[in-house]
Amino acid sequence: MYKFFITATDTDAGKTFVAQSLVKALTNQSLKVAVFKPVSAGCDLINNKLVNEDAKLLFDLANCNQSLNEINPIAFKEPIAPHIAAKHTSNKIAVNDLSDHYKAVIATNADYVITEGAGGWRLPLGNGKFLSEFVQNTKQQVVLVVNMKLGCLNHAVLTYQAILADGLECVAWVANCFEGMDYLDDNIDELTKLLDCPMLAKLDKEQSIDVAANKFNVELLTR
Ligand SMILES: Nc1ncnc2c1ncn2[C@@H]1O[C@H](COP(=O)(O)OP(=O)(O)OP(=O)(O)O)[C@@H](O)[C@H]1O
Ligand SMILES: [Mg+2]
Repeated sequence: MYKFFITATDTDAGKTFVAQSLVKALTNQSLKVAVFKPVSAGCDLINNKLVNEDAKLLFDLANCNQSLNEINPIAFKEPIAPHIAAKHTSNKIAVNDLSDHYKAVIATNADYVITEGAGGWRLPLGNGKFLSEFVQNTKQQVVLVVNMKLGCLNHAVLTYQAILADGLECVAWVANCFEGMDYLDDNIDELTKLLDCPMLAKLDKEQSIDVAANKFNVELLTR
């Protein structure tokens, strides 16, 4: 079983879009793919249950019969920093709870488990804890999504260095070029030098997940 955690240079950088495309690329190859969104903030109340859009999008593409609740066990209504949402609803987000919920995902016996983070790499969970500790506990390999815009070189390198400093492997990065950037090729060349891992995909502003999925070089993930 391969376990990948999708992180990014920032919120709204394309983690869900990349996770969706990656899941699609893998299921296109008849592989069994489970998904996980450990923590979400920003949900709709549907039939008395909090439903997060990211979790729903991943649910729609995965093929291991998971429930929405299994995919996203911790959900808060307001679209704010999760640990602040937790505080305001008298909850706590414990790293061990996230790791326990992850066990149910592992139990699907999927070929691949694709987990989408929240925010960026050092997302606070409150009480001095970070989402990155869940990734360490569950020994996932990391895929870094870079939102290609001015300032991304700094964010990408800091994130890459933090992943390595945490004792984890950043196996690949994705150049997510959906916002339009001046001198894009120069910036991609620079990141290719600065990040010591292969580029899994270069995405433009894509019309569909299907089109994006075809741009993934998934063989890179299992080298
Ligand atoms: N390559 C792309 N082509 C077209 N649309 C994209 C692309 N990448 C991202 N988007 C769109 O940009 C928006 C932000 O992307 P996305 O939701 O994937 O970011 P995120 O990192 O998951 O955000 P969050 O931190 O809220 O989870 C979404 O509407 C998404 O569909
Ligand atoms: Mg998302």
